[in-house]
Amino acid sequence: MSGMLSSARTLYLFASAAPPVLDVAGVVENARRDGWDVCLGLTPTAARWLETELEHLETLTEHPVRSEYKLPGEPDAWPPADAVLFAPATFNSLTSWALGITSSFVVGVAAEAIGKNIPTVAVPCVNAAYARRVGWSADLRQRALPVGPHSES
Ligand SMILES: Cc1cc2nc3c(=O)[nH]c(=O)nc-3n(C[C@H](O)[C@H](O)[C@H](O)COP(=O)(O)O)c2cc1C
Repeated sequence: MSGMLSSARTLYLFASAAPPVLDVAGVVENARRDGWDVCLGLTPTAARWLETELEHLETLTEHPVRSEYKLPGEPDAWPPADAVLFAPATFNSLTSWALGITSSFVVGVAAEAIGKNIPTVAVPCVNAAYARRVGWSADLRQRALPVGPHSES
């Protein structure tokens, strides 16, 4: 398996703590089958939900699964991203992203990806009660739903 993806494009697959994250291994497998080298990032809560699977996910992706920022001076653990997919994206992660609150590693990297013009897509997983919060649709329009160099108009 190793080396098979050496010419692949790199996908940063980010996921937060909503139930679809429990199927993230299947998403990784599908993306790899489609030719992506997948680097998996999780919010700390999602990492806790997947605690028993983390080792398997590292074997599957052939990269460390990350949920914390590196230390200053530490080398990058992943190759640079060609695309970012944030799925599922919780209400917490999306509104943090929209507000620029980047204490979560994956939210910070997703926010930076937009600044670097890396194609970035978020797939919200939010119930109706959350979505009725004042400002939610404006948050999404401004920041978080398919964003990147091809959706600027
Ligand atoms: C069983 C369960 C299901 C949840 N489902 C959702 C969901 O679908 N969408 C959502 O925004 N939050 C959901 N939450 C709440 C988030 O897990 C919670 O807000 C958490 O702080 C999100 O953190 P994160 O965005 O850093 O992963 C759920 C929580 C639990 C325990």
